[in-house]
Amino acid sequence: MEIFLVQIVRLTLQDFRCFKNLEWSPASGLNLVTGENGTGKTSLLEAMHLMAYGRSFRGRVRDGLVRQDAEALEVFVEWSEKGAGGSEAGESSAAGLRRAGMRHGGQNWTGRLDGRTVSQMGDLCAALAVVTFEPGSHSLISGGSEYRRRFMDWGLFHVEQTFLALWRRYSRALKQRNALLKTKNTDMQLDVWDRELSEAGEALTRHRQRYLDQLQERLLLLAPQLSSSVEILSLEFSPGWRRQEMVLGDALLLSRDRDRQMGHTTTGPHRADWSLHFGSLPGREALSRGQAKLAALSCLLSQAEDYAQRFGEWPVVVLDDLASELDTRHQAHVLSYLQQRQAQTFITATEMLSMIDEVAPKYALFHVEHGQLRSKA
Ligand SMILES: Nc1ncnc2c1ncn2[C@@H]1O[C@H](COP(=O)(O)OP(=O)(O)OP(=O)(O)O)[C@@H](O)[C@H]1O
Ligand SMILES: [Mg+2]
Repeated sequence: MEIFLVQIVRLTLQDFRCFKNLEWSPASGLNLVTGENGTGKTSLLEAMHLMAYGRSFRGRVRDGLVRQDAEALEVFVEWSEKGAGGSEAGESSAAGLRRAGMRHGGQNWTGRLDGRTVSQMGDLCAALAVVTFEPGSHSLISGGSEYRRRFMDWGLFHVEQTFLALWRRYSRALKQRNALLKTKNTDMQLDVWDRELSEAGEALTRHRQRYLDQLQERLLLLAPQLSSSVEILSLEFSPGWRRQEMVLGDALLLSRDRDRQMGHTTTGPHRADWSLHFGSLPGREALSRGQAKLAALSCLLSQAEDYAQRFGEWPVVVLDDLASELDTRHQAHVLSYLQQRQAQTFITATEMLSMIDEVAPKYALFHVEHGQLRSKA
């Protein structure tokens, strides 16, 4: 199967963090962005992440993404993908490009995709595929379960067309059931939502199980290429209820009294999680911070590979502050891995990466200073 590449050809920012106005045409392969502390390197990557996920990896939009004293930020991304020049890229395929724009004021947002207004953030974000590794990414291994649910569902949102509808159906039913649990309710009323939750939830869980099974196969092959210091033996899925023993409908019924006491639904796919098992380590708590990062990066790149296989396109790969995250040997492994796949990659660093000329000699160099980005090619 031929694998295409998602490639950002233009990024335009307005009133985004420290950038008043910025227009950037990155290169197709490896882009290295250098700059001193606090010049805006992370913010550049954050803007791409925002467009691809509808959120930042550094908190909510209203917590500082909009430039001080400005009303709203604007991000505009233009990229090419497999449909470029063909029929699959939607309306703008004649130009060979896709376009997404977002204006966000912290509370309200508007979005446009390929010239059309979009009303759901999920639809806007599903268009552009970006995989991000940043200083907080170790949370994928050592943080709370919401990171891992988000990770797992990202893969499914993008590649399983029915998943988003199922996920929305489940979330809606969960909200209704939780609202009902907070008021005086009858068994008959709860039966309605339990039925809805269990139909959507069982289907959702089958998708998740299948996805993680496939991801595990990839991960076991990929992780040793990045590092020999973390031996991953397996990736285990926890569906959110005792699925081996009972169907979701029974689990909901069984937890009904407790749910009434607690005022919310305590069991089900909204509590799903997954975990890694390591050779010669008692568990994730025993990992060093660097090892947790390598494990997280292995998961993220496995996800990118899976996306490429299923969707026929390599996502854009964003690596913030790589040198402060990994030692030189591991940086080199990551770079050569990405180089072989020709993925469009963005790396930020305060200094030049010492091994880059040896490992990945073809790269574009940019430098940020005073709210401006200059090419140093
Ligand atoms: N809403 C905002 N308005 C104006 N400036 C902001 C806003 N939010 C952040 N900044 C500033 O933007 C700058 C860029 O921050 P960013 O985290 O992108 O820098 P960086 O180059 O990644 O730094 P480091 O090397 O320390 O990681 C910082 O100086 C920060 O104070
Ligand atoms: Mg930074």
